[in-house]
Amino acid sequence: MGIKELKGALMFVCNGEFWRMGVIWTISLIRSYFNLFLQTHFARKSKLYDRSPPSVSSASASIRKPLCIITGATSGLGAAVSYALAKEGYYIVLAGRSLDSLSKIVSEIQEQIDDAFVKAFQVDLSSYKSILSFKLSLQQWLLDSDLHCSIQLLINNAGILATSYRITAEQCDKMMSTNYIGPFCLTKLLLPLLEQSHIPSRVVNVTSFTHRSVSSMEVTGETISGQCFSKLSSYPFAHVYEYSKLCLLLFTYELHRQVGLVEKSHSVSVIAADPGVVKTNIMREIPSCLSCLAYYVLKLLGLLQSPEVGIDSILDAVHAPPETSGVYFFGGNGRTLRSSRLSYNSKLTKDLWDASSQIFLERQLASQDTT
Ligand SMILES: NC(=O)c1ccc[n+]([C@@H]2O[C@H](COP(=O)([O-])OP(=O)(O)OC[C@H]3O[C@@H](n4cnc5c(N)ncnc54)[C@H](OP(=O)(O)O)[C@@H]3O)[C@@H](O)[C@H]2O)c1
Repeated sequence: MGIKELKGALMFVCNGEFWRMGVIWTISLIRSYFNLFLQTHFARKSKLYDRSPPSVSSASASIRKPLCIITGATSGLGAAVSYALAKEGYYIVLAGRSLDSLSKIVSEIQEQIDDAFVKAFQVDLSSYKSILSFKLSLQQWLLDSDLHCSIQLLINNAGILATSYRITAEQCDKMMSTNYIGPFCLTKLLLPLLEQSHIPSRVVNVTSFTHRSVSSMEVTGETISGQCFSKLSSYPFAHVYEYSKLCLLLFTYELHRQVGLVEKSHSVSVIAADPGVVKTNIMREIPSCLSCLAYYVLKLLGLLQSPEVGIDSILDAVHAPPETSGVYFFGGNGRTLRSSRLSYNSKLTKDLWDASSQIFLERQLASQDTT
């Protein structure tokens, strides 16, 4: 390790956010497993969800394979889920920000799975413009390929743990945009395609146990766009990550409630999945000696999983029976858990929905102005 790297690591250790990650997040994780243990062994109404593969009805003969969009499919959990679902016969649409990484993963999947159906699209989730252009290209591709204009599964998986404040073209915080605003806008834009599905369709949001570390929360346009963090002398990155994951969870429950109110012949379900701690590239901005140490300790505690195991809760969410919606999968084996008390707060949910919808509307209007 060079002097520069050592100095960087020492400075990082002096940051309170590092200790928040190390201590508070570990407590949140242990609490999640403890609750899961109590629920599995002592709760009378502990429910396990069997996995049921998607069925394609005769009315939808034009859909040969259920179409699944996975964001952040070029690394870690997203890549592992893409392999698993391609093996199961889904038509996989990989959405990622780097064309090189996308073409690499497409060839890897096609090399390993003979009859894999894979298509890649470039999208930067921190940019509304990019999300909109992804939606338009996707629709055009469905039309050109003579595929039914619908999708069966959207997995909002992409996410980052950014350690510094970075501003997007839309003047927002990069981490809030990638982890929350981007998935919100993408889901809103793709909802008509999910609703057009001939079989029940589903949104799976990949959230995190770190949402439990948020003890109080204020929801305004400034907080969810992350603009308020630009005024702070140091970027509270651990707080922002937890906050973004709690927002995604609140959004999951509210979208579930709202789609349930609309009567459609084939319904859309909305589910949250929490993989626990998984060894991926998520800690890429943390000094490598510290992330290696963290993984080492987590492994000793028996809490670290490989991506192939970590995707269990995501696959549970994907394969839960069609009527399953508004639940939080954690721990694999079809197990769900109650998320934090804040995540069920109806005032927060409403404030978040209103503020997010306002941002979405502003972006829609801005994009119309530029076209
Ligand atoms: N690993 C864990 O312990 C853990 C625990 C709980 C929840 N999660 C959640 O699981 C999800 C997947 O994370 P991971 O652990 O697999 O991390 P990862 O290996 O770093 O993968 C993240 C993926 O998101 C993509 N991505 C990042 N920013 C993007 C953007 N602006 N637009 C489009 N794609 C973007 C990355 O693309 P590039 O490769 O191009 O950067 C990458 O494919 C995240 O939402 C994370 O919060 C992870």
